[in-house]
Amino acid sequence: MTADAILTTEGLTKRFGGLIAVAGIDMTLRRGTILGMIGINGAGKTTAMNCINGLYYSDGGKVFLNGTDITHRTPHEIARLGVGRTFQVPRIFNRMSLIDNLLVTSLDSSLSDDELTERAEGFLERMNLLDLRYNHGEELSGGQQKLLELARVMMFDPDLILLDEPFAGVNPALCRLLIERILELREGGKSFLLVSHDLTSIYKLSDHIVVLNQGQIIAEGGVDDIKNDPAVIEAYLGQA
Ligand SMILES: Nc1ncnc2c1ncn2[C@@H]1O[C@H](COP(=O)(O)OP(=O)(O)OP(=O)(O)O)[C@@H](O)[C@H]1O
Ligand SMILES: [Mg+2]
Repeated sequence: MTADAILTTEGLTKRFGGLIAVAGIDMTLRRGTILGMIGINGAGKTTAMNCINGLYYSDGGKVFLNGTDITHRTPHEIARLGVGRTFQVPRIFNRMSLIDNLLVTSLDSSLSDDELTERAEGFLERMNLLDLRYNHGEELSGGQQKLLELARVMMFDPDLILLDEPFAGVNPALCRLLIERILELREGGKSFLLVSHDLTSIYKLSDHIVVLNQGQIIAEGGVDDIKNDPAVIEAYLGQA
């Protein structure tokens, strides 16, 4: 385990009956960097993320956060340790206003209501959602829901943010906004595990990339290594 690792997995494994969705993943995410994770549909990316944040009970291996073993802790405990998460299909509160979507994460905060509202409005503004703050979640487009999820995650100021397909269904202008915000947050010291099929964005953002296929890492390295890796080209395009 390297000293500057915020997240490490060792032999992480998850089975669904006879299917091994995550088959012994060893990976390291260095603090203050973005680790991109790519792989074809069903490669095991979301399942790996679910094991990391405790949504799934992994069947083998370990997850370490800042060197502390967090394997099998609950999602709630892992969030409290500073891990935020967004979902492939956004999980927002449809019948609540955008501002309330953010405030629910802070029910036990020591900040006053005014301070929390100011904080929530600040994050909504950064996602171009401030004008919609009293609208219901269900009134947002799919892309805006992705932005709202990221704003909500920021409310509790996590050190590590797990993003599952943040660009899927998001128009190019919103994608650019999202990329800008992710880069700003990294500049501010946040770390990211970024799962995406959007290779252009992954290549733009990632400091290091792992490629999953059938639950295993088939390649890893810097952007240039991955772009030219025959195993990656074969997994994506069916030919080396
Ligand atoms: N809850 C579940 N029960 C049974 N099988 C599951 C479950 N979740 C995922 N799987 C299976 O595990 C494998 C990995 O799925 P996963 O969702 O992790 O893939 P993914 O890499 O995120 O794919 P995508 O790019 O389509 O989001 C797939 O074969 C999937 O069918
Ligand atoms: Mg997925």
